[in-house]
Amino acid sequence: MTDHQTHTLPASLTVPRILAICNQKGGVGKTTTAVNLATALSAVGKRVMLVDLDPQGNASTGLGIKRSTILKSTYDVLFNEAPIREIVMETKVPRLHVAPSTIHLSGAEIELVTADRREYRLRDMLRVPLPYDYVILDCPPSLNLLTLNALVAADAIVVPLQCEFYALEGLAHLVKTIERVRKSFNPALYIHGVVLTMYDKRNRLSVMVEEDVRGFMGDKVYKAMIPRNVRVSEAPSFGLPAIVYDMGCPGAQAYIRLASEILKREKALLSAPAEQVA
Ligand SMILES: Nc1ncnc2c1ncn2[C@@H]1O[C@H](COP(=O)(O)OP(=O)(O)O)[C@@H](O)[C@H]1O
Ligand SMILES: [Mg+2]
Repeated sequence: MTDHQTHTLPASLTVPRILAICNQKGGVGKTTTAVNLATALSAVGKRVMLVDLDPQGNASTGLGIKRSTILKSTYDVLFNEAPIREIVMETKVPRLHVAPSTIHLSGAEIELVTADRREYRLRDMLRVPLPYDYVILDCPPSLNLLTLNALVAADAIVVPLQCEFYALEGLAHLVKTIERVRKSFNPALYIHGVVLTMYDKRNRLSVMVEEDVRGFMGDKVYKAMIPRNVRVSEAPSFGLPAIVYDMGCPGAQAYIRLASEILKREKALLSAPAEQVA
């Protein structure tokens, strides 16, 4: 076991709320959102596990995990029956653990095809009593079986969306996919919200896309928008979430607002669960 391997988990066990950070497009801010949302939730006292489902492992390294120290990864959870508690590693952020991924996971797509309960493998490992309040799933940039596992495991989806030309087409496609997942595998799944990322209010395209997306998705679009901010893109190279690297920067502040908006929606949900639809 390495220093990173966790020994001291908070004792009380609950089935956690599971949020998948999902968008089939790459480079839209999924990993950045997963890392900073997870950090912001742990900063307000939640016990959080970030599950890295991207073979690139950017969420793991972005939280300061050195690849050489990873003994077991999400691959072992999916294929070797390793309980998630066995693979989690501590991060520099109190109450935030990460279930790391490695390049091993790149074979998962093919191995899943012939696996038993192939759509439910992650759900089976996560929907158990765990010492976490929230599980954040960082999804790969595609709609493959790995992503399907995340959507089947999740209670809800947070969609990072970059304000670019084909954003709305991509979103419509994702909404249809979620509809199909709900019908076949996970009837309770819904879109928690859409977060606009790398927003630039001086760019007309950003503003136009924002209007379109708010028109299409209404209140599902969070008020908090994440501005394009160089401090946010620098942070991972120091192995730190932007919120820790430079809490005062506009990107970090936006992620803190996003987390509080998400928690507000979570509270509202407790009083009216039937009203949530994708
Ligand atoms: N708000 C932001 N401001 C500036 N750069 C950002 C911001 N969000 C993400 N980035 C950068 O954009 C790139 C893609 O982001 P990432 O979170 O890895 O996307 P994805 O996980 O969807 O592929 C990364 O280099 C990241 O540092
Ligand atoms: Mg990513």
